[in-house]
Amino acid sequence: MKTPMIAGTALVLGALFATTSVIAKDLPKLEVKDRYKVGFAQMESNNPWRIAESKSFEDTAESCGWDLISTDAAGSAAKQVADVDSMIAQGIDVLFLPPREEKPLIPAVKKAFAAGIPTFLVDRSVDPKNAVAGKDFVAFLGSDFIQQGGIAGQWLVDNFKGDKAVIIELEGTTGSSPANDRKKGFDDVIAKHDNMTIVASQSGDFARDTGRQVMETLLQAHPDVNVVYAHNDEMAIGAIQALEIAGRKPGKDVMIVSVDGTRDALQAIIDGKMGVTVESSPFFGPLACDVMKRYAAGETIEPWVQVKDRVFTSANAKDHIAEAY
Ligand code: AHR
Repeated sequence: MKTPMIAGTALVLGALFATTSVIAKDLPKLEVKDRYKVGFAQMESNNPWRIAESKSFEDTAESCGWDLISTDAAGSAAKQVADVDSMIAQGIDVLFLPPREEKPLIPAVKKAFAAGIPTFLVDRSVDPKNAVAGKDFVAFLGSDFIQQGGIAGQWLVDNFKGDKAVIIELEGTTGSSPANDRKKGFDDVIAKHDNMTIVASQSGDFARDTGRQVMETLLQAHPDVNVVYAHNDEMAIGAIQALEIAGRKPGKDVMIVSVDGTRDALQAIIDGKMGVTVESSPFFGPLACDVMKRYAAGETIEPWVQVKDRVFTSANAKDHIAEAY
């Protein structure tokens, strides 16, 4: 009896140490040097947020000593995987990756890491059940998307003046972390209020035109809508266009609640067409540089380097529009 028990205990301890050593010891090293070959595999460039994020990396490159290899997957997770593959083949020192969707990019993340490339997820993350920071990639740099959705929902609760809120939700790209999490954060708040109902929730793929088209269709089925919650500003602007074409008055008979903080959204707030946009900053270049340098210096990087977001309403939109993108 005794021997098997000891063996069993040893096995359990062995497994524990193995896990610990994978996390603590097997992170790829990054030497301190003047220049780094850095990969930034962008997912698409079809909205101001993505363009601002890419520009932030380009603007940071020289001061951070990056020889930057940037790609644009044009809205295809398969192309983003191929772009990462190509960067691995080109011998990048570091990878910064905003994974378009939570699941399809996991093999690419693991492959880069297995090739000894310190890999950082920026702005979007992957499914935490299948890949974790400190083991499959170094860290995630980004906002708390659940919190953003919760802030949008609570703003609505605090500012809605009618008896019953009839809400249309325009979701982001299906299977992406911001779409999943912004939905959860908002829906959880709304579920606590009997006078508020989400009558339709459909993807507009984070795009203005798709948002407008989806809104036009949903408006036919739900003409009594008086709130639109969009997972990003581009879809919110598309919804405003659809409402105006239908003779509705966004900001007056339909409240618009959104996320991002783009210039067009801040202008819509100033014009009285939008109520709130919860900030989601695209300016990751300087943060990526700082985290990379700390990592090269041997610092342990926290698994989630969290970005703090502000809230833009009619109280402060004018103060921030000059710096918006
Ligand atoms: O991942 C962040 C989201 O992606 C932004 O809200 C959106 O505008 C972008 O496409």
